[in-house]
Amino acid sequence: MTRLWYGGDYNPEQWDSSVWKEDVDLMRQAGVNLVTVGVFSWSSLEPSPGEYQFGWLDQVLDLLHAGGVSVDLATPTASPPPWFSRLHPEALPVTPDGVRLTHGSRDTYCACAPAYRSAAAGIARALVNRYDNHPALAMWHVHNEYGAVCYCSLAADRFRDWLRERYGSLDRLNAAWTTAFWSQGYADWQDIQPPRSTQYLVNPTQFLDYRRFWSDELLKAFLEQKAEIRERSSLPITTNVVFGGWVPVNHAQWASAVDIVAIDHYPSRTDLGAEEQTAFGADLARSWAGGKPWLLMEQAAGALNDGQRLHAKEPGRMARHSLSHIARGSNGALFFQWRASRGGSEMYHSALVPHAGASSRLFREVADLGSVLPRLEEVADSQVVAEVAVLWDVECWWAMQGTHLPSSSLDYLAAVQDAHRHYWRAGVTVDFAAPSADLSSYKLVVVPSLYLISDEAAASLAAYVEGGGQLVVGYFSGIVDPDVQVRLGGYPGAFRSLLGVRVEEFHPLPADGVVELSSGGQGRLWSEDVEAVSAEVVDRYVGGVLDGKPAITRRQVGAGTAWYVSTSVDSETAAGIFGLSPSEVETVRRRSGSGDTTWTFLFNHGDAEVVVPADGVELISGVAVDGELSLPGGGYAVVRSP
Ligand code: GLA
Repeated sequence: MTRLWYGGDYNPEQWDSSVWKEDVDLMRQAGVNLVTVGVFSWSSLEPSPGEYQFGWLDQVLDLLHAGGVSVDLATPTASPPPWFSRLHPEALPVTPDGVRLTHGSRDTYCACAPAYRSAAAGIARALVNRYDNHPALAMWHVHNEYGAVCYCSLAADRFRDWLRERYGSLDRLNAAWTTAFWSQGYADWQDIQPPRSTQYLVNPTQFLDYRRFWSDELLKAFLEQKAEIRERSSLPITTNVVFGGWVPVNHAQWASAVDIVAIDHYPSRTDLGAEEQTAFGADLARSWAGGKPWLLMEQAAGALNDGQRLHAKEPGRMARHSLSHIARGSNGALFFQWRASRGGSEMYHSALVPHAGASSRLFREVADLGSVLPRLEEVADSQVVAEVAVLWDVECWWAMQGTHLPSSSLDYLAAVQDAHRHYWRAGVTVDFAAPSADLSSYKLVVVPSLYLISDEAAASLAAYVEGGGQLVVGYFSGIVDPDVQVRLGGYPGAFRSLLGVRVEEFHPLPADGVVELSSGGQGRLWSEDVEAVSAEVVDRYVGGVLDGKPAITRRQVGAGTAWYVSTSVDSETAAGIFGLSPSEVETVRRRSGSGDTTWTFLFNHGDAEVVVPADGVELISGVAVDGELSLPGGGYAVVRSP
């Protein structure tokens, strides 16, 4: 994996074989060196049960190999063919409302259905048996974007098995789920169901456990396919990760099961927010990969999509996004998809070869980027340098999705994005980290709204501060334990003694409400009645019922400091408190394993030219840089320095 990969999903089955030759010629022209083949090819590979048609794929792989393009061969299990659903209707997924979906899109299977699992392992086996020795192959790509959930009776059975394993007894489960509330006490395992649609609020621990269970179950499904492949092939095996509130996958936990972490990334903003989202997604991927290089498996070549309409990426923006991912640890930039489809559900999705064909601005930019990446190949396998960590915990996110919270404005992902933004705007690279990780290498650790936390993770954070760390804990943190039960005695439960504060009552603000702070800053969304028990007050609420009460506190603990920020602060307020200055230039460093060489990626997000200090060689132009480097508006550069 010590090179930069460039290319994307290639779906030749959508095209007549006469197009394949042109595809490979254009790939060569564009500098493409890796394509993902077969992601949605099941019905072309196995048009009826057990009858394989590999001839077309043989030809495609041979053509690609002859053209010098490597292949990431996918198992097509995210879209079983229509005959599979006809033969196994029990494997079609059921929604929380009890509606069984029909075939006609993709992901129409229940991952718990035995027929699906064995068919998925079967097609993976058939592929590896045929292609394990094909010289075009560089890696394996299992499935596509694991995440589809089902609530059928087969899933319910597996859920009960998972619960037996986790809790051992119904007594323990009843205690963890607080089933004494609303007469939910279970006396028989068979009575336990997935969190299907119900009359009113769902049990929060049942909701969280279903997400934990689903992640574990999908991981088992992935590992079954991986085992089939590993039996015959020693190539790297991965799966492309999708991130979203609807995805019950614990990516940090899955990371150890893949040979390289791979993500898909589609910003939902069209303004500068897209660049911020790019940094966020890439930093998250790097944290899942434990700091090791990872791979951007999919992005859009030509358009951002805010859910309402497409927004064509401005000239240079596709390259900037790609380089931003590479700056933050990706060993390449891949796209969905190579050639824009002529029909089908995603026919208006942009592609490296647009509907207009290769004679287009987009394809020229694709070829330009393809000519730049080989000049950056030396960065592959280096490590990103970050001195600040923001904590990320998917279980905390799920817990906040499933519980009736004291304010509908409480949003874990948004709180984490806010924290990331404060540093991104100041040009500071952050890592994401798990609450129980070893954080001793970071100068500063930020803990946004960590609602759910285990005793072990809380102890580990306290030890980090004792050892000299700077910890900034945000509002609505430390409230519940992993059973989603409140830590009594005052908020913020798990952090009360570390922070030296005690909160008796929450004071959520209206959605557009603002609370003034004595420093001149502002808080939004949320406030708390904070008592500074053994902490120093840094900032106070001004006006309203909390007038004069502590808003932000600080406590010396051992060699470190623990801060508490009891309201949601915007980037300006955070910059004022923590001494961050806004920067239009995004700067990210990758360092060689020996520490001898640093590569600095610079992106000018402004319209005007800026001059930045730099020394070394700019790799895209090959020009030596002595003291300063000028970046035009929207420009970017990569400087190698000893
Ligand atoms: C995902 C899928 C692709 C495609 C893109 C569209 O990432 O993996 O098959 O549907 O979304 O953005």
